[in-house]
Amino acid sequence: MANILKKLSEMNDWISEYYETSFKTLGDSRGSLIALEQFADLPFELKRVFFIYGTQDGVSRGFHAHKVLKQVLVAVSGSCVVDVEKNGKRESIKLDRPDKAIYVAGLVWHEMHSFSPDCVLISCASELYDESDYIRSYDDFKAYDKRFHTGS
Ligand code: TYD
Repeated sequence: MANILKKLSEMNDWISEYYETSFKTLGDSRGSLIALEQFADLPFELKRVFFIYGTQDGVSRGFHAHKVLKQVLVAVSGSCVVDVEKNGKRESIKLDRPDKAIYVAGLVWHEMHSFSPDCVLISCASELYDESDYIRSYDDFKAYDKRFHTGS
């Protein structure tokens, strides 16, 4: 764990956080269009995009944090709720518009639930898929989070 925290603190963008954000909609009489560009609308270099859709009723997903990966989550169709936790505080954020998003940095625990049947949740991610970047144990996350925020 010490190596990971050292690596994070050495990076310029080490801040562990999340925040709601919104995208500029380019609309005209034909409808709407949203474009996402790395380093502008996405505060990182974009390396991967994945979609979650067809989620069955009552299913919750996620239940992990990342060590390094940062991502922007947006429900481009339908809606879902994302629970985010860091530094001992937990918040629920509903994504229900294509122009509303959440930025989730590393070391933020997140769970997604209450998916509408038509929900298409897109993640724009800063890293390629790497299972070793996942913290899937909540207890491990709490230990990382505590050490990250208290330095002990
Ligand atoms: P998982 O991480 O369990 O999804 P979630 O945390 O959103 O519930 O991913 C499901 C499966 O898909 C798992 O076997 C890993 C695999 N996967 C990839 O191969 N590439 C990817 O980019 C992602 C996100 C998952």
